[in-house]
Amino acid sequence: MKQILLSLLLVGFSSAAFCQSSFYKERYRPRFHFTPPIDWMNDPNGLVYHHGEYHLFYQFNPMGNRWGHMSWGHAVSRDLLYWEHLSVALAEEKDTMIFSGSCVVDQQNSSGFATAPGQVPMVAIYTGHIEGKNQSQHIAYSLDDGRTWKKYDHNPVLDLGKKDFRDPKVFWYAPEKKWIMAVVLPLEKQVQLYASHNLKGWQLMSEFGPAGDTTGIWECPDLFQVPVAGEPGKYKWVLMHSPAPYMQYFVGEFDGTRFVNENKTEKIYRPDYGPDYYAAITYNNLPAGAAPISIGWVNNWDYANAIPTTPWKSMMSLPRNLSVRKKNGEWVLLQQPVTAVQQLRTHQRSWKNIRTKSEYTLPVQSQVCELSLSMLIPAETVSGIRLAAGAGHYFEIGYDAAQKILYIDRSGAGDTSFHPAFAALSRYQTPLQPVNGKINLHIFFDKSIIEVFANDGEAVMTAQLFPEEKNNGITLFSKGGAVLFPGIDYWEIKPIW
Ligand code: FRU
Repeated sequence: MKQILLSLLLVGFSSAAFCQSSFYKERYRPRFHFTPPIDWMNDPNGLVYHHGEYHLFYQFNPMGNRWGHMSWGHAVSRDLLYWEHLSVALAEEKDTMIFSGSCVVDQQNSSGFATAPGQVPMVAIYTGHIEGKNQSQHIAYSLDDGRTWKKYDHNPVLDLGKKDFRDPKVFWYAPEKKWIMAVVLPLEKQVQLYASHNLKGWQLMSEFGPAGDTTGIWECPDLFQVPVAGEPGKYKWVLMHSPAPYMQYFVGEFDGTRFVNENKTEKIYRPDYGPDYYAAITYNNLPAGAAPISIGWVNNWDYANAIPTTPWKSMMSLPRNLSVRKKNGEWVLLQQPVTAVQQLRTHQRSWKNIRTKSEYTLPVQSQVCELSLSMLIPAETVSGIRLAAGAGHYFEIGYDAAQKILYIDRSGAGDTSFHPAFAALSRYQTPLQPVNGKINLHIFFDKSIIEVFANDGEAVMTAQLFPEEKNNGITLFSKGGAVLFPGIDYWEIKPIW
């Protein structure tokens, strides 16, 4: 079967072709999140919109179901829902792996890669990795909307002679008509910003960090402008990156040279407070006025290679729209799943005013669903919802009113035996204030992933789980007093494959 899948990968094939097959129906296989057909995947790379297509490149091992032989896998979508798998875009070279990076549309042909009038080059900027020796920044280009790629003859374009120097995110800075690259020095815990006029020569402009979370190495930086929610025409800049094994963000201003953080320096702000959200970056070249869109890798390096899925490993998050809002003097990143996801809804059910002081089982069963609910929270209660429930097992999403904490707990949700770190990393939490006495939860459950967006995306938590297929109950719960759930909406979600 692997041979068939490999040849399909080489010619490229679409999600429609998949529907007819038994592929993509494996145990744990998400139905509406992106996964590669076979083999290992990590970071999203080169997210770019061009000629009506959203490109998703990703760290990919075409040779197996563990990390290695890093290359760029490739898929495209017209709506961020249904994806067409394409053949490997950038393949590993003899001694150089293709690590993470980004992709731009070179509208003015500043790189000179276009050879005929009307051609618009797509340029990928990635890290060339020579194991144990060197990491430097390389470029490659495509003149056919990303279907075929040619590596630049004079790579690398930026080499500090270092062993760790990676993950270039390049974007066009219109006010000064120049390219900007955010790239990390992982061990120094610094983001460097470089500028270029042709994507081939780069000058250092400034450095940011160490700051915030400095416990792990720093990876996968991104610098982008976001709208301020509810204030049309107002924007801030977000510097986001992955201090392993989680992510953090800073919000402030960027003047074309330097990023200045305006949030508290002693506090750590995370785009996702769950265990499984990493290396997220945003799309380049979106249509004017479109809100930024990010995609993250749903896994955690502490156990990533050991998760019990086959013949593939890892999925991507739902694409998320980003904005910021000022709350109590701090800038908070807001994330919402892109509205296109609503097109997948089917079989809606709604319930009003359910009150429980122990447990209330909803009359639906599913491991592929979306829920939107609010809870009126009295003091001293712990309440919420359990998914993948059955035979005493469940994944719990709860709010602790005394401590004002939102938490997820997957310790009883299924298989945790495959890696001690997965079993240990089971409960995650973040402070969250009720709004008008209420906590709102918007939840996506897709076989082996749960994404929770709380209070309009002010706190987000993403986690993997590996439950028994028969454990598909959904239960509301409360401890310490009665809790009212004024409204609950539920949808089954159509598969994208
Ligand atoms: C982040 C990362 C990047 C690197 C890539 C290698 O998950 O470690 O820093 O470029 O993965 O696959």
